[in-house]
Amino acid sequence: MTRLSIRNLTVKINGKQVIRNVSLEFKSPSLFFILGQNGSGKSTLLRAIANLIPFEGEILIDGKDVREFRRKELARVVGYVWQNPLYGFFEETVEREIKFILRNLNLPEENFSEIIDFFEISHLLNRSPFTLSGGEAKRVSISSVIVADQPIILLDEPESEMDLHGLSKIIEYLKKNASKKLIIVATHNPLIAYKLRNTVKAIYFLKDGQIIQEINPLRLEDEDFLISVGLIPINWWFK
Ligand SMILES: Nc1ncnc2c1ncn2[C@@H]1O[C@H](COP(=O)(O)OP(=O)(O)O)[C@@H](O)[C@H]1O
Ligand SMILES: [Mg+2]
Repeated sequence: MTRLSIRNLTVKINGKQVIRNVSLEFKSPSLFFILGQNGSGKSTLLRAIANLIPFEGEILIDGKDVREFRRKELARVVGYVWQNPLYGFFEETVEREIKFILRNLNLPEENFSEIIDFFEISHLLNRSPFTLSGGEAKRVSISSVIVADQPIILLDEPESEMDLHGLSKIIEYLKKNASKKLIIVATHNPLIAYKLRNTVKAIYFLKDGQIIQEINPLRLEDEDFLISVGLIPINWWFK
């Protein structure tokens, strides 16, 4: 079991508090959602957990602060997938992009074929990651991180740009791994959280950098509630 403890987390960017005194406890295996409007601080929160930005307070993995891990040691434990795939790409081909983390962390290459089969990206291996379509890029960027099979996975808006097929794969991955890992998904879209209502452990609502409340998945059926917190109601599209 892995325990992730966030204690009094504050993140300041250009003097502004983007995350304000957030405290949360996560235990694996479980799937959690961080739901919030654009600009509420979801990506910043995930980046702090991955120790990609400076912060105040504590973020502990099994009692050890993420700032005390060596970089590669933390990369073995925490996988963070960027909201925008282009922020994470730097290799010349998709194959090199996905294999980079395995080589860098001295992990066996066995996972490689499994992940490219799962996300059906074998036809893209020789392409430059920078030439991919939005949905292709998303599948490759997720693969290039989770191929390392980290016990903690942070996914930033994984459903964006995904068509039915890509979305089904993500949902399959989340259902399968919710019983094995600690997975935290940040999104502004209640639909994906609702779709996983029987799998999710908790949904936290983030507003202006603060966790305002825990939302019961069935509350996502409440149109007035979602409108009141600035999220898109599930049946909004039908009207
Ligand atoms: N590097 C940065 N420079 C300036 N402002 C930033 C930076 N990163 C994030 N912010 C601001 O912090 C707030 C939270 O951003 P973010 O965590 O990306 O929100 P979310 O992921 O919920 O949309 C926003 O107001 C955003 O504009
Ligand atoms: Mg974001």
